[in-house]
Amino acid sequence: MRNHPGEAIAPAAADSASFIVRPAQLSDVQPILDLINGYAAQEIMLPRNEVELCEGLRDFLVAVDGDQLLGCGALHLYTRHMAELRSLAVSSEHTRSGVGQALVRELLDQAKEFGVDVVFVFTYVPGFFEKTGFHIIDRASLPLKAWKDCLRCPKFTACDEIAMAFMVTPGAEIYMSHEPPELPYVEGPLIMPKLGQPRVLDKPKPRAPKRDK
Ligand SMILES: CC(C)(COP(=O)(O)OP(=O)(O)OC[C@H]1O[C@@H](n2cnc3c(N)ncnc32)[C@H](O)[C@@H]1OP(=O)(O)O)[C@@H](O)C(=O)NCCC(=O)NCCS
Repeated sequence: MRNHPGEAIAPAAADSASFIVRPAQLSDVQPILDLINGYAAQEIMLPRNEVELCEGLRDFLVAVDGDQLLGCGALHLYTRHMAELRSLAVSSEHTRSGVGQALVRELLDQAKEFGVDVVFVFTYVPGFFEKTGFHIIDRASLPLKAWKDCLRCPKFTACDEIAMAFMVTPGAEIYMSHEPPELPYVEGPLIMPKLGQPRVLDKPKPRAPKRDK
């Protein structure tokens, strides 16, 4: 059973650290946006907006020291076998103190709990992920949906991120397709429904006729 928002999953990973890792809650949304979009401005990560972050907030873990957000990361399920580790970020004042690794460890534990066989990541920091047991893979071996987010990326036609995977289940490479994606996932235009006659099923009961006194 997963922890509830606000409840710690893990105490400090590093001996001297004082942070905890816990599921994200709505009060973390703004600090997470600030952290991710700060890195997005440097073209290190994809930007996020409030709506999509809230929509996927249950994917997120955060590392916090009291009220201060030190880092965040998410596990997004894609197929019955595969999940993506994404939106991993540690604030620049707190890097190299074990926060990133603590988040990755917890997200991989979640992956095991859910029965995920392969966790993949797109990254510019393969050295960091190698330390947690990921290895470089062919990007074409990732499922179609992994390309959904890429559509918003200015580097869509010249992606320079490195694809890596962590095998939760030994031999799970068999679950990775070796076919390149046929078509990117495209969301349709925003079409609002036209309003019709409201349909009300809970009609009020007819009143009993008034009796003359
Ligand atoms: C990459 C990032 C998450 C690492 O977080 P962190 O908290 O600094 O990492 P940790 O302190 O847990 O480091 C764990 C190990 O990885 C190493 N490491 C950290 N960053 C590294 C990097 N960029 N390259 C190579 N190794 C790295 C550390 O030295 C440490 O090694 P050790 O255990 O031998 O001492 C963080 O630097 C960050 O947020 N970067 C900007 C956003 C980003 O690139 N996110 C990844 C998106 S996929």
